[in-house]
Amino acid sequence: MLSGELIMLKTSHRGKVREFIVNVSEDGFHTDFGIIDLSLLLEKEAGDTVVSHMGQEFTIQRPRMPDFFNHAKRSGAPMMPKDIGPIIAYTGLNTNDTVLDAGTGSGVLAMYLGSIAKRVLSYEVREDFAQLARQNILSAGLGNVEIRCGNIVDEIVTLEERFDVVTLDTQDSKDVIPHVRRVLNPGGFLVTYSPFFEQTKDIRQAIDAAEFYDVRTMEFSEREISFSDRGTRPATARVGHTGFITIARK
Ligand SMILES: C[S@@+](CC[C@H](N)C(=O)[O-])C[C@H]1O[C@@H](n2cnc3c(N)ncnc32)[C@H](O)[C@@H]1O
Repeated sequence: MLSGELIMLKTSHRGKVREFIVNVSEDGFHTDFGIIDLSLLLEKEAGDTVVSHMGQEFTIQRPRMPDFFNHAKRSGAPMMPKDIGPIIAYTGLNTNDTVLDAGTGSGVLAMYLGSIAKRVLSYEVREDFAQLARQNILSAGLGNVEIRCGNIVDEIVTLEERFDVVTLDTQDSKDVIPHVRRVLNPGGFLVTYSPFFEQTKDIRQAIDAAEFYDVRTMEFSEREISFSDRGTRPATARVGHTGFITIARK
């Protein structure tokens, strides 16, 4: 492992998995299970183990986006993986793409997009939320995600940059949509996320007025299957309604 690299330490205690994301450094990392000398990681590879001063063994892994999703600090409701997946799939997001995103919130969607795209620019109207999202993005080691504090309704009209994908997860998306065409590259995608039917209808009207094509609004559901000695069935606790995703193309 290299100095400064982000790694995940996993251990098991009384049948429960505990995990920590840390930077490889010369420091000691304090856990309930003893102090880990992080400089030992310089000699290690993913899959190796390291032992705390209390004798607890930790397995070393490279964290991936779902790990950052689990560890991210939350300012509000972040977008869920079940909704992020279709956004990536339906827009065909790739390593050449630049993305405009708003509002940043906890930065979860921005982080997932940034783990694939060349660049993500995300606007958040609240400075405290923008600051928290910047911390999450730093923790995920993403240097290509820029968070600006500002109201996207005002800021989008001042932007000179062009984007391949625009993602909007704000209450006032309908007021942003009339300006999206100007900042989208030809063939680019607009994606909105809206929790309510009423908001979604306003979004559809704004999209129709702005002359996009291939417009579709979808809801994605997730149903986990539970396995027990009594039988196998859909889990009774589940992710319920989150939001509607509308995708449109320039
Ligand atoms: C539901 S959260 C977004 C969650 C985010 N997509 C994520 O995955 O973490 C909506 C965010 O939009 C911000 N917001 C609302 N209106 C905005 C605007 N006009 N411009 C920029 N940000 C805005 C809110 O402060 C809030 O943090």
